[in-house]
Amino acid sequence: MFGKKKSIPQIDKEQLALIKYAEKRIKQKRRVYIHFVVFLIGAVFLIVANTVLGIGKDFTIAGLNWFVIAIILWLAFFIYHFISVFITHKFMGKDWEDQQRETLVAKQQERIEQLKQQFLKEEIEIAKSQAFNETLIETAPAGKKKVERTIIVAAGENNAIGKDNDLIWHLSDDLKRFKSLTNGHHIIMGRKTFESFPKPLPNRTHIVITRQNNYKAPDGVIIVNNMEDALDAARSDKQPFIIGGGEIYKQSMLLADKIEITRVHHSFPNADTFFPEIDKSLWKEIARREHPKDDKHEFSFTFLTYERIL
Ligand SMILES: NC(=O)c1ccc[n+]([C@@H]2O[C@H](COP(=O)([O-])OP(=O)(O)OC[C@H]3O[C@@H](n4cnc5c(N)ncnc54)[C@H](OP(=O)(O)O)[C@@H]3O)[C@@H](O)[C@H]2O)c1
Repeated sequence: MFGKKKSIPQIDKEQLALIKYAEKRIKQKRRVYIHFVVFLIGAVFLIVANTVLGIGKDFTIAGLNWFVIAIILWLAFFIYHFISVFITHKFMGKDWEDQQRETLVAKQQERIEQLKQQFLKEEIEIAKSQAFNETLIETAPAGKKKVERTIIVAAGENNAIGKDNDLIWHLSDDLKRFKSLTNGHHIIMGRKTFESFPKPLPNRTHIVITRQNNYKAPDGVIIVNNMEDALDAARSDKQPFIIGGGEIYKQSMLLADKIEITRVHHSFPNADTFFPEIDKSLWKEIARREHPKDDKHEFSFTFLTYERIL
């Protein structure tokens, strides 16, 4: 039922044109060889006609026998023929040259059109995500700060967040919340956290912090060398998210306005990366939602939101 389709060999227009071109070239070269042989035979014939048969024996031009002049002229014509075929390719004709030029121009135009469409698509996506962010801010209560730098993290009771550059748990509802909160936003992360992803997350602008000068990342990922540049790269976003890991969290605790933390109700003594302690004299809890342990979630956890008070 799902057998492979038999492939039918096909020659496209371009290949056909190339074959025609090759055939024409072979014919032209053959004509040059024939011309050369005819010239040699003709030259011998002219010499014999004059010297042996005595044809036009006394006829001279500028002191030269007529057959010498005839051979020189023929030789010049042969050289012209040779150059036209092997050097200037003159005999391919203007039509052929025009056709080649038109094919090239058409290809370039097609490529330009594709790039234009791609560019337009990206512009629309950017405009959409900016409009989405602006709407969020406009509907925020009056008096609220314009930009809300938000740390988002999931941490155990002992503040554990990772081990061997990976998460220690799999909590699908926490991932869903992460996706919905960060959707359409800039996400700022350390190089190690970025490398823990199989590929960049869709519909988010990735900003990766590294001290490396020539760090290579897929198209669209912004690379910066310090936290200040990371925040600057996200300045168009009213709610950029700082998504980890341990090193980056430590450096951003004083810069953030909000913390979205998922507190996983378990201690993970084997972890190797930790979230800093939240100083309750600086941060106020403003929202909380419990999530019980169930078939899909090995641990219970709580979604907590903190706002900076100082
Ligand atoms: N539970 C969670 O919510 C959560 C979230 C995110 C990550 N994680 C976990 O956290 C762990 C990774 O965290 P991590 O602390 O080891 O690494 P990380 O913070 O992701 O990245 C560290 C790297 O960031 C770069 N960097 C840090 N500070 C910099 C600065 N000031 N200027 C320039 N570059 C700077 C350096 O990159 P170079 O070495 O290239 O210079 C450094 O090696 C993983 O286990 C991950 O799974 C957990």
